[in-house]
Amino acid sequence: MNQPKVAFIGAGNMGGAILRGLIKQGYPLDALMATGIDPQSLEELAKETGVRVTTDNQQAAAWADILLLGVKPQVMQEVCLSLAEVAQQKKPLFVSIAAGLTTSTLLDWLGADLPLVRSMPNTPSLLGAGVAGLYATAGVNQQQRAWVEQITRAVGDAHWVKEESLLDAVTAISGSGPAYYFLMTEALAAAGEKLGLSSELALQLAKATAAGAGKMLAESKDSPTELRRKVTSPGGTTEQAIQTFIDKGLHELVEAAAQAAACRAAEMAEELKGS
Ligand SMILES: NC(=O)c1ccc[n+]([C@@H]2O[C@H](COP(=O)([O-])OP(=O)(O)OC[C@H]3O[C@@H](n4cnc5c(N)ncnc54)[C@H](OP(=O)(O)O)[C@@H]3O)[C@@H](O)[C@H]2O)c1
Repeated sequence: MNQPKVAFIGAGNMGGAILRGLIKQGYPLDALMATGIDPQSLEELAKETGVRVTTDNQQAAAWADILLLGVKPQVMQEVCLSLAEVAQQKKPLFVSIAAGLTTSTLLDWLGADLPLVRSMPNTPSLLGAGVAGLYATAGVNQQQRAWVEQITRAVGDAHWVKEESLLDAVTAISGSGPAYYFLMTEALAAAGEKLGLSSELALQLAKATAAGAGKMLAESKDSPTELRRKVTSPGGTTEQAIQTFIDKGLHELVEAAAQAAACRAAEMAEELKGS
């Protein structure tokens, strides 16, 4: 199949992970390019992956069909402004993975009438186990959506949302979500210590349990509720713990935490508009 040429404008942790994911899936190397500002790290990336590299974003933009914007939000304005002219001439597809920058802010910088997808990935993408929310502006066609899915799925799962504001909810659930499970693991390990386990053993048990439960969630066809039902015998130990979680307001607490994250995501988008 004729694959579109993809340029990674910034191939650090997240951009680099997606680039490596695509290569692992057999994406043709001559259809990939990466840019950055440090020639030495670019050289290392070229040596490791075999893709062509450049410090010249405009050269990459003139070459590519798809531009994946993988720089930090703070430098995005400068990068987009420098790409605006070639973007308007060529009208490539843009994909931004930057947290918090709305499509209207990005199009203010790049110029109007460009196909643009905003992606909100999460950290497990770095291990190929991510999940991302995707939002497409009106100018993105079906073929381009399929390309974005292919690129995003190189490091995990991908789901489209119909309204951009829903990306704040995606941020609150899967974007920030890995940290919630890390916090739960910390809390469970601390509880294990209080019950007399050594700190090392408590942490090992809590970590292995999180990983095992995650694997069951990922691999089983059962819903989380069904999985929980299967390990909760009436009158048993798990039932006591679950009842305590519910009585002490776990659901309300999680809802409040997710609301707080979503509100902060919306606030940050406003702040970044003026950056
Ligand atoms: N990491 C995550 O888990 C995560 C999750 C969700 C979203 N994101 C988003 O992903 C984006 C990148 O984050 P990251 O963690 O991957 O950051 P990172 O590791 O710092 O990568 C940023 C890359 O951008 C390059 N760069 C800086 N200025 C540039 C310029 N003017 N032109 C071209 N390249 C330039 C840097 O190149 P040099 O190495 O040469 O300096 C670096 O490789 C951010 O917008 C972030 O919001 C990240």
